[in-house]
Amino acid sequence: MDAPLVDPFGRTIRYLRVSVTDRCDFRCVYCMSEDMQFLPKTEILTLEELDRLCSAFVRHGVEKLRITGGEPLVRRNIMSFFEAMGRHLASGSLRELTLTTNGSQLARFAGDLARVGVRRVNVSLDTLDPERFRRLTRWGRLEQVLKGIEAARDAGLRVKINAVALKGDTEDEMFDLVRWCAREGHDLTFIEVMPMGDIGNEMRLDQFWSLRDLRARLAESYTITDLAERTGGPARYVRLEETGQKVGFITPLSHNFCESCNRVRLTCTGQLHTCLGQEGASDLRAALRGSPDDDALDDAIRAAIRLKPKGHDFDYSRGVEGRISRHMSHTGG
Ligand code: GTP
Ligand code: 5AD
Ligand code: SF4
Repeated sequence: MDAPLVDPFGRTIRYLRVSVTDRCDFRCVYCMSEDMQFLPKTEILTLEELDRLCSAFVRHGVEKLRITGGEPLVRRNIMSFFEAMGRHLASGSLRELTLTTNGSQLARFAGDLARVGVRRVNVSLDTLDPERFRRLTRWGRLEQVLKGIEAARDAGLRVKINAVALKGDTEDEMFDLVRWCAREGHDLTFIEVMPMGDIGNEMRLDQFWSLRDLRARLAESYTITDLAERTGGPARYVRLEETGQKVGFITPLSHNFCESCNRVRLTCTGQLHTCLGQEGASDLRAALRGSPDDDALDDAIRAAIRLKPKGHDFDYSRGVEGRISRHMSHTGG
């Protein structure tokens, strides 16, 4: 194995998030515009190219690989890519192969995912109300996602529900989600909405609901114990003593976690984003296509890591300054 990737602030990169497509079968209101223009196919890396790139990161000490999108499971032949990455699990170089999905295709793929070595999936689900779900995703069917989640559980996959906390929209449902996850045996993580994508001048302030507030409301009904445990991602976890369930909080705005950041993000066009909350990216596709041997690619990866910034600038007190025009679907969250 090559020397691990360490950024200028001493943070070792062990976690690669790979967006395998910018396409999605939903159009969540905080993620995409309704008439979203997708990239032409010629721009997109082939699955073989993605394999070569991800394998280079694994060689450099990446231990956790999360496949994202858009919606990763809508990419044609995606299981062959999962299978290819599964070989790094089998060899012991990768500790975890996983994905973040909207769940719409899980009923079809859950068994295959388990077979190649995936152990848990994160499913984005903000509401349990079918009408609200349709409105937030613009046309998604809740029932299809619930069936997918069931299939994942039946296939032996652990499920974590990711719910973006939306002021006004999902505030009143927080306890329903907590109770449903307790009943179904799923972990649950709440996420603060981030000012990304087409948002005009508003920074999504109208949607922003601080998880400090959400946590305080939870504490009125549950005894909350902070857990030291981490999953390698940004969430901080607590246990609700009355139910024993685990609840996570991802708080980029109310409690910045950049100093312990261990991750970088690869887009489906081979751009490496070393921070979700900054505009800059390094082009790895040129190095990938420029030469069949991996030396130039390895150099390009190291050079990119040297540019990883200290952190994001999301800050509601600074108006539109901290916002990012890139859509979340390009980097998969
Ligand atoms: P676990 O492996 O279960 O810990 O998952 P994870 O939190 O690493 O991955 P997931 O895809 O569930 O991430 C949930 C969301 O957290 C993402 O979609 C982003 O919205 C947010 N997130 C993850 N990493 C970062 C980060 O470095 N910065 C910011 N601002 N948000 C992040
Ligand atoms: N802020 C926070 N989370 C977002 N996601 C998409 N857009 C945003 C945003 N603006 C989340 C989705 C999913 C993950 C991939 O990213 O809900 O859980
Ligand atoms: Fe699709 Fe996920 Fe974006 Fe929703 S948040 S539109 S499911 S990529």
